[in-house]
Amino acid sequence: MNSSALVLERVDAGDRAEFQSSVLAGLSRMPRAIPAKFLYDAAGSALFDAICELPEYYLTRTEIGILRQCAGGIAALAGPGCALVEFGSGSSVKSRLLIEALQELVAYVPIDISRHHLDETAQRLRRDYPGLRVEPVCADYMVLKALPAGLPLASRRLGFFPGSTIGNLEPDEATAFLRRVRGLLGREGALVLGTDLKKDPRRLHDAYNDASGVTAAFTLNLLSRMNRELGADFDLAAFEHEAFYNAAESRIEIYFKSLKRQTVHVAGRKFSFSAGERVHTEYSYKYDDASMAALARSGGFEIVRTWTDPARQFAVSFLRGVP
Ligand code: AVI
Repeated sequence: MNSSALVLERVDAGDRAEFQSSVLAGLSRMPRAIPAKFLYDAAGSALFDAICELPEYYLTRTEIGILRQCAGGIAALAGPGCALVEFGSGSSVKSRLLIEALQELVAYVPIDISRHHLDETAQRLRRDYPGLRVEPVCADYMVLKALPAGLPLASRRLGFFPGSTIGNLEPDEATAFLRRVRGLLGREGALVLGTDLKKDPRRLHDAYNDASGVTAAFTLNLLSRMNRELGADFDLAAFEHEAFYNAAESRIEIYFKSLKRQTVHVAGRKFSFSAGERVHTEYSYKYDDASMAALARSGGFEIVRTWTDPARQFAVSFLRGVP
């Protein structure tokens, strides 16, 4: 075994310990909940890529359409000579639109917890843009407090957080995230943020309850992952995906639901489920102009400009730090 394989194995063991302790804690409290980040193992990430292609899941293609239209406007607001700092590295189509539009880009700095994703992204971008300086940072951007010293970071840093991933955070988490991002981007920093907008609840419902069952498979993959990695014995046929729009909270709520009374073993512990009992896995918050402005302000930013598609399904906003 070479040394990089050894490092990978140690990281995997750490990941598994964190997964196990989060699952055991989440199933031991009431109401039960497992953090959404554990949905994204290799199989979950592939299923999420498939979700992005679904006819019902308008978010990804709508945001890409908006970015195609507004990349020039973003570049004009950002000005020449900034560094592009992306939170996550999975959205290469979107980042490419900005990389190509920004003038005299100093560096592209993708931040991602997955070394594998980062290496792939960096390799592809270096091949396709030979003059571009790509400086990947392997870190959990949800807790990162400082960028590594020595990065070729321009005084003006442009953050990029697309995909409505901000919507998966509860409001206080979203505020805390934006405050940290404000610190990472510095005094002259700006942020391009993608948010999903409030709309006809049926459209929202369909986006998270697709006819082909890919979103259901994405939720139930968490059970397969617990079976595989934690020696659990979930019967996937005895649980189902449940997703609905909670208008009072402006959010989609997603759960897996027990179809009968049953007992499941996880990492040597026993958990009983009543028929109809749910385990929460995700929130996906939807915004309007007022709630977006309030969120930006709470995080230390102000919205300079927002672009939407003609049907106002999705928004891409340019935020500047408030001095
Ligand atoms: C990653 N995130 C923005 C997705 C969303 O729409 O909230 C996650 C998702 N879960 C089920 N479908 C999509």
